[in-house]
Amino acid sequence: MAYSNKLLDHYENPRNVGSFDADDSKEIGTGMVGAPACGDVMKLEIKVNDQGIIEDAKFRTYGCGAAIASSSLMTELVKGKSLDEALAIKNEAIVQELELPPVKIHCSLLAEEAIEAAVNDYRSKNKK
Ligand code: FES
Ligand code: FES
Repeated sequence: MAYSNKLLDHYENPRNVGSFDADDSKEIGTGMVGAPACGDVMKLEIKVNDQGIIEDAKFRTYGCGAAIASSSLMTELVKGKSLDEALAIKNEAIVQELELPPVKIHCSLLAEEAIEAAVNDYRSKNKK
């Protein structure tokens, strides 16, 4: 199975790995999702400014190379977006960009779910 150069690049040099120090702060939304089938876990943190724009994002993923590459791309895609724009990111965008083979499509689904979970967490923390 051949991986695309883009996938390998994100896998070998993942962007935005880590987590924010004050992850209980109200500016941070955390999404932790897992795939029950294999036990793989993806955690995304978004930092949202007072204009409602995602300023920064970080991830930690325990999973296969495709999941790590998907996470890395996901953090790049959400940066600079509003919460609604981030929610509109679908895993198909990641599949296309990384040219994921069919057996790895479910790994990119974790990224879509992580975005949704992080936005929901941010919104529930900031409910007036
Ligand atoms: Fe776990 Fe693919 S087998 S996400
Ligand atoms: Fe488990 Fe990809 S994250 S196989």
